Amino acid sequence: MAQTYKIAVLAGDGIGPEITQQALRVLKLVEEKRDVHFDCQHAEFGASAYFSTGKSFPDATKKACDEADAILKGPIGLSHEESEKIPVEERPERGALLPMRRRLNTYANFRPISLPKGMAHFSPLKAEVVGEGIDILLVRELVGGLYFGGKERGETEEGLRYVKETLEYDEQQIRQILIIAFQEAMKRKKVLHNIHKSNVLISSVLWNEVLEEVAVDYPEVNVIHMLVDAAATHLCLNPCQFDVMVMENMFGDILSDQGGGILGSLGLMPSACMGPDKAYYEPSHGSAPDIAGKNLANPYSMIGSVALMLDMSFGMADEAKAVWQAMQSVFEAGFSTGDLSQAGSDITLLSTTEFGDKVMAALQDLL
Ligand code: IPM
Ligand code: MG
Repeated sequence: MAQTYKIAVLAGDGIGPEITQQALRVLKLVEEKRDVHFDCQHAEFGASAYFSTGKSFPDATKKACDEADAILKGPIGLSHEESEKIPVEERPERGALLPMRRRLNTYANFRPISLPKGMAHFSPLKAEVVGEGIDILLVRELVGGLYFGGKERGETEEGLRYVKETLEYDEQQIRQILIIAFQEAMKRKKVLHNIHKSNVLISSVLWNEVLEEVAVDYPEVNVIHMLVDAAATHLCLNPCQFDVMVMENMFGDILSDQGGGILGSLGLMPSACMGPDKAYYEPSHGSAPDIAGKNLANPYSMIGSVALMLDMSFGMADEAKAVWQAMQSVFEAGFSTGDLSQAGSDITLLSTTEFGDKVMAALQDLL
């Protein structure tokens, strides 16, 4: 009997459903070519879930996630005006995404910032800076720090409104993400950039102390310490110096978007969110409501998230590799999507479905 995996599919908002559709075609093809069955349970999540059920993370979706072996999640969120119609606590980021991260304890977020040579022309950086391409793994702590620390809002004795939000980590939270980063560094070039702000934040001081302790178990890994502001500059000036980078939650949010910037588009940024028991996979970008439903979105990040799922949740590394190759071959053949190129250049722009068609055609031969 074929190996069966249960996948909860949360298509999300905006461009979510259309890019998810392309990602599911890829899963279907893998299913046809291999002795494996993907049992996909669709469930609502995000703003669309709020408008149909009154909750942005409905109980039925929680159940589907609990029962699944892995979760494939599209982007969530709406335009500013549409979001205003949702009570603050139910808005998709606060009401769905962060609760999901906490519930599944997906503390390790893998964000590959990758641009193979054949796609290097998409980078806004000079060709000599990009060289043979960019290949960075950004490891972001995902369930701690400012995002999840205590929050308070009130009025001072003088009647001024104030807020207080706290950046909280204990050593165990820090240790577990650093271990993941060292393990990844061991699988790659054995170089780990530790991104911090210890000249100002005591959270970074503790982070670095724990790093020294963890590093003892990985003597082969060359650790390079870099302040987060400097790292932002280095990502632009010399991205090829980086291999694995590790950092706390908020730093990772910001630098991973910059990662999308140096590739040419956030549309090239899939991600894996790994917990002790379960993982979910999602693009790093938002739901692009301005182009939703127009068949314009680039599904690369969503299909890439499927590739990460095949590799990291189902142990199908070869199939994952084929998916990356298929997508890259489409770009290498001179095609593009609207996020990466302007219309009118000599590059042929593909719609969401056309990109999917070409990926499927390439994958047919690769699998
Ligand atoms: C990301 C996103 C989220 C984050 C938002 C949607 C809450 O920007 O996954 O990077 O800040 O983590
Ligand atoms: Mg972000």
